Amino acid sequence: MCGIVGIAGTRDVAPVILEALKRLEYRGYDSAGIATLEAGKIDRRRAPGKLNKLGAVLQDRPLHGHTGIGHTRWATHGKPNETNAHPHATAQVAIVHNGIIENFRELRDELAAKGHVFESETDSEVAAHLVTDYMAQGLAPDAAAKKAVARLTGAYSIAMIFTGHDGLLVGARKGAPLAVGYGDTEAYLGSDAFALAPFTNRVSYLEDGDVVVIRGPEAAIFDAAGRPANREIKVTAAAVALVDKAGHSHFMAKEIHEQPEVVGHTLAHYLDPAGPTVRHLGVGLRETLAKASRLTICACGTSYYAGQVGKYWFEKLGRLAVEIDVASELRYRNPVYPKDGAALFISQSGETADTLAALREAREQGQTIIAIVNVPESSIAREADIVLPTYAGPEIGVASTKAFTCQLAALASFAIAAGVARGELSDIDEQRLCTSLLEAPRHIAAMLRGEGQARALGEEIAKARDVLYMGRGASFPLAMEGALKLKEISYIHAEGYAAGEMKHGPIALIDEAVPIIVIAPHDVHFEKTISNMQEVMARGGKVLLISDSDGIAKAGDVWASLEVPKTNAFVTPILYAIPVQLLAYYAAIAKGTDVDQPRNLAKSVTVE
Ligand code: F6R
Repeated sequence: MCGIVGIAGTRDVAPVILEALKRLEYRGYDSAGIATLEAGKIDRRRAPGKLNKLGAVLQDRPLHGHTGIGHTRWATHGKPNETNAHPHATAQVAIVHNGIIENFRELRDELAAKGHVFESETDSEVAAHLVTDYMAQGLAPDAAAKKAVARLTGAYSIAMIFTGHDGLLVGARKGAPLAVGYGDTEAYLGSDAFALAPFTNRVSYLEDGDVVVIRGPEAAIFDAAGRPANREIKVTAAAVALVDKAGHSHFMAKEIHEQPEVVGHTLAHYLDPAGPTVRHLGVGLRETLAKASRLTICACGTSYYAGQVGKYWFEKLGRLAVEIDVASELRYRNPVYPKDGAALFISQSGETADTLAALREAREQGQTIIAIVNVPESSIAREADIVLPTYAGPEIGVASTKAFTCQLAALASFAIAAGVARGELSDIDEQRLCTSLLEAPRHIAAMLRGEGQARALGEEIAKARDVLYMGRGASFPLAMEGALKLKEISYIHAEGYAAGEMKHGPIALIDEAVPIIVIAPHDVHFEKTISNMQEVMARGGKVLLISDSDGIAKAGDVWASLEVPKTNAFVTPILYAIPVQLLAYYAAIAKGTDVDQPRNLAKSVTVE
């Protein structure tokens, strides 16, 4: 989603802002722009498309000045063209905005009636005019900014600069992340610490309703009530080096190949190999699990599918009732939360707007809030009672891969802990499950060494118009994840179904042109899944079976198969994620799509 950078500096800031915006590219965007104060006057450059386009514009017509703001825009209101690109400006103020201003129509009508003329189709431009209007009424820029943001509803983070006020930068946050960076002679605003890492590792995170007024290197923060607020300055671990592809052609390929290591790191955090046992997972977690009458799991997209796998694990190992829903539904359907309930929120970015809103709702309903997040300083991490981190490292490819398997590693450990805490698992059970889990990184590495077969099959899949995935038990969410991965990066239509559901409708789609990817570990569900597979084959379906050597041998003649190492049934979702990712990746490569930044998608979804 949109990325924001602001600098109140001591050098020409436009080139520096451009570099910092590159660090936010992973969030997904479709236009970009920068505004600076040159001799006290606002000047801006904007361009649709990627940052190299903006770079070319700046080379042609450089921007000078020591105070500036920059933005990568992921279009919500209006096409991704130059007019709709940020910064939006009046003669007095330039602003960049991430989020959605829900009451922009009313505000625009009000301001238009007073003579304000709008040039873009965006919701964001209204913020620039509102600030300008308050300044015209005699308010100082910071006071006008505070008064304006107080009138905005929806979710936003905003950065502003003002004509004639060199060194002044105002930021505001409600629902979308914004960090303040502290340098020796400069101060910064950024969507995340990663954007600010080349400048400083001293960062404070604004809280909802906060406004920050930066003058030169000094920053003063005010809370929603306008009172001066102290926000802790944290020393962040965000890496300075722009994460590179380490010799891979795409971040996605690199991230797929990092999985043995990062799943290993995540497991090392949760499991003590000496037992092996699950380590202490966080203050109060075991007690919460022991007494929880129900666990509500909530997330979006790939993180939601990780949660779906978790549901199977919690119910089986912990006999813990699980309710699960996508965040955009859960938060609005007035769910019935039990007394003594716990709610688990899963998010790679830790900033997904719907997941964060659902978390707040669950807190209001008295649930203990647990979060599995990959970004330790994110809003979701900061608002949870108990944080279970994943150690995937920065995930840059828009399609989630390593974050997913790390989420599964954390969930698996957590589910074992639930089983132990609830008296459902013996010490021997715990050791057996932990032993199998600890073998996952080795198995993943073995599969990645043999990825050639997945490449060839991915190229075949690329020829299809539609692809179906099916699986049973914990392989059902993997079928949905496989379909999501394929459609988002290759733009091939794909759906994931519970294998037993095929004959209730989707089987009508089967013909020779539709590959069916059957995810069938050799476990208790195997025979039933294979029967469903036969039903599909009897109707001309072209089956690609993903199973272990026993499963492949038993299944008989299929169009193609991909072999996964034999393992304890409990661990299979972590291993079977790998071929599913590779198939999507190589299908996308064969189709020549933009794998790391697929069309229309954003990495961190900070709008509803
Ligand atoms: C798909 C993908 C998305 C995210 C979803 C949630 O590959 O990456 O579906 O999983 O947008 O994002 P987080 O996990 O950051 O809350």
